Amino acid sequence: MKHLPLFFDLLGRRVVVVGEGPAADRRAALARSAGAEVRQLSDIRVDDLRGAAAVFVATGDLDHDTVAQRVAKSLGVPVNVADRPALCDFILPAIVDRDDVVVAISTGGASPTLAATLRGRIEAVLPERIGSLARLAATFRAQVNALIVDPARRRTFWRRLVEGPAARLVLAGDDAGARRTALGELDDARRRLAPVGIAHIVGAGPGDPDLLTLKAAQLLREADVILHDDLVPPAVLARARRDAELVPVGKRKGRARWTQDEINAELVRRVRASQTVVRLKAGDPFVFGRGGEEVGALREAGLPVAIVPGVTAALGCAASVGIPLTHRKLASAVTFVSGHSAEGSREAAWPALAAQGHTLAIYMGATEAASVRDRLLRAGAEPTTPVAIIENGTRPDERLSTGRLADLARLAASHSRGDAGPSLIIVGDVAALASGDFAEEWQQPLAKVS
Ligand SMILES: C[S@@+](CC[C@H](N)C(=O)[O-])C[C@H]1O[C@@H](n2cnc3c(N)ncnc32)[C@H](O)[C@@H]1O
Repeated sequence: MKHLPLFFDLLGRRVVVVGEGPAADRRAALARSAGAEVRQLSDIRVDDLRGAAAVFVATGDLDHDTVAQRVAKSLGVPVNVADRPALCDFILPAIVDRDDVVVAISTGGASPTLAATLRGRIEAVLPERIGSLARLAATFRAQVNALIVDPARRRTFWRRLVEGPAARLVLAGDDAGARRTALGELDDARRRLAPVGIAHIVGAGPGDPDLLTLKAAQLLREADVILHDDLVPPAVLARARRDAELVPVGKRKGRARWTQDEINAELVRRVRASQTVVRLKAGDPFVFGRGGEEVGALREAGLPVAIVPGVTAALGCAASVGIPLTHRKLASAVTFVSGHSAEGSREAAWPALAAQGHTLAIYMGATEAASVRDRLLRAGAEPTTPVAIIENGTRPDERLSTGRLADLARLAASHSRGDAGPSLIIVGDVAALASGDFAEEWQQPLAKVS
């Protein structure tokens, strides 16, 4: 190690910056952001340097830099000279700044570009609100020291605070919930009770594991247990921690295994048993996913729960086959609708959906294609309206069929046979833009309107 990384407390202390221009201004701003009282000079003045906590020199001129460096050294003030490592007592690292959490990266002056690249990577994995987590920990420090005497139990409490449910809540923006949870855990630790866990209701996206959000991928690496739908493919589950327990709770049509009530009860049971639970749902948990019911059950039981959105099938499939769901000349509205009229669910207002200039993304519609077609035609849709069916969207075995609304049932028949994967139907002029065998023929309607 060429330099020892130290974090310097400059609050209220005098820092001198010698020089003008962007490099000097950046250093002045940095020192100010750490609470220093900054004096910026165009020329060196011995009296200003005396008693300073540090000096930054950035005149851009070798002779001026050298003079300033010598004066600082003669007064015993640590000095940094921009772009002249040989003249420096200390160097400036690349910095990731998240309030109280600061990461400093140094390559010992060898390559600022490498340091900047590393900073970018660290920024990408460090949650945006990690500074709030540090603040939460700070507010508990005195109480924890006073209430948990045993060092091992204190360490367990801290680890749980920064990795467990309270941390998840604060990172999700729920500061009040995080505080409540941490207080509960402190109380449990004091009384030597096992703390409760947390459930994350997480969207897995349409199937391509690279479409997981950063947050979802991180939670898959942290969860004790993952309760997942059948629609979540092995490629996504492969991103889970190796020793995480995987529980399939799929309820695919026709071969029900778990009822929704059973899933809700299982979530509650596992969170009460201190587990970090990920409830992994295809697409987005709040789009035809019954995620709302699971959140409701956990809230009703007074347990911590956080929600992580996912790329819903309509967005994933449309992007994968090149269908813009809205288009300046073809569609100014898009509706996600269920083609499957489940018992007890509210029926969509089909006449409004059949309007021109409106794109429909129909979930769970392939097995009910004839009924979807009839409802749309009865509601006034043109039989020639373009349609596209995307099966296994975003996955290696994705399949696209395109045609006209009048042919929807025939097109869908080939998608709902045997062990076909999930299919999404897109209805509307934009469906003609799908990149498939018929793409050229389907460019016609677009040519007409442009
Ligand atoms: C119960 S819904 C779940 C929707 C999910 N919550 C979402 O936001 O995508 C299941 C339906 O989503 C659609 N679906 C999900 N993943 C899909 C995929 N990869 N390709 C095509 N359709 C998909 C199908 O219409 C399937 O019948």
